[in-house]
Amino acid sequence: MAKASFSGVANEIYFRGLAGERPPLPMGYAALEAAARDRMTPEAFAYVAGGAGDEHTMRANVDAFAAHAIVPRMLREIVERDLETDVLGKPMPTPVLTAPIGVLSIVHDDAEVAVARATAKLGITSVLSTAASTPMETVAAAAPDAARYFQLYWPKDRELAESFVRRATAAGFGAIVVTLDTWSLGWRPRDLALGHLPFLKGLGIANYLSDPVFRSRLKSPPESSPEAMTAAVFTWAGTFGNASLTWADVARLREWTPLPIIVKGVCHPDDARAALDAGCAGVIVSNHGGRQVDRARAAIACLPAVARAVGDRATVLFDSGIRCGGDILVALTLGAQAVLVGRPFVYGLALGGQSGVEHVLRNLLADFDASLALAGYRSAREARGSALA
Ligand code: FNR
Repeated sequence: MAKASFSGVANEIYFRGLAGERPPLPMGYAALEAAARDRMTPEAFAYVAGGAGDEHTMRANVDAFAAHAIVPRMLREIVERDLETDVLGKPMPTPVLTAPIGVLSIVHDDAEVAVARATAKLGITSVLSTAASTPMETVAAAAPDAARYFQLYWPKDRELAESFVRRATAAGFGAIVVTLDTWSLGWRPRDLALGHLPFLKGLGIANYLSDPVFRSRLKSPPESSPEAMTAAVFTWAGTFGNASLTWADVARLREWTPLPIIVKGVCHPDDARAALDAGCAGVIVSNHGGRQVDRARAAIACLPAVARAVGDRATVLFDSGIRCGGDILVALTLGAQAVLVGRPFVYGLALGGQSGVEHVLRNLLADFDASLALAGYRSAREARGSALA
């Protein structure tokens, strides 16, 4: 496979500019968010943009990057730029994945299918949420050759959890990402102020409604009547969060799938060690974009200690606060093999469907490509861990 290259993106934009053409969507994060806010319903924007509590952690996720600023190095003969990295023991063309984000139908009708097609075009691995608006098999069929992982919200119903994992394995997902930090929803004032939780309207539960185990728990098919749908939503609400999970459960996932297991929401090095002991192939340093524990430490501040604890024994991924190419570079220098992009691609989706997602991700990669080279690194692999003492 040819190496991914994004070094021509800026020139293409400037040459189009000569012909009077401007990029169809904003180029920077702040402008992107502002434009998306104008396009989205107040409820959808609150759901995507909001965080837990007074949103201290959500802001800190972005601000804390300043403590890890890059010192560029000069004259290093950087003719070729190599963005390839290693994730789960395999090469990945760029160090960017899309984060699992639930209920994308509130943002755009094409929802997860648009994301699957956009990421497939760019060679990016996407992580599909359990809380997707589209059944996992439909998303897989929309971009059959694309690399994708399945994110598991482990329900109380053990047979349902097993069914999700077996379905994802059968549908060609390449890893199971178990999200550990959302066994119960955080306190989210923006959603509370609007009294709005999309799942209660039957949105974002497509993987449940299409599941044979879930359906077997219902008296009548959810599509048979509005009352049956309401009953399905209540069944969803009864099974969503599992407070009794332990590391032993994570270890037992092995019985359901041969796929590598990644745990998401690891901020403490001892949890990273527990993940390794449980047989996980990777950890994602993340605080869920500041949506769960307000006053939790910024995710980027947690990355070095987790990366040191893991060493080369597993893959370290990072999310929560990635907004520009420099952020990706910092995360790599602090030990991440790759990062997950969250809110930025959702705003791209809101503004332009598939092409909006492509716009955001392509520009982010071009920005990273420029930052990497201008900081003096030949490759993503060379940058990785370079700031860990
Ligand atoms: C999320 N996130 C999330 N994570 C997960 O494991 N499953 C999910 O269904 C969701 N859903 C979700 C919805 C929305 C609207 C947001 C903003 C986030 C968390 C996500 O995967 C990731 O950790 C954060 O988005 C990272 O923070 P930033 O960079 O987007 O601020």
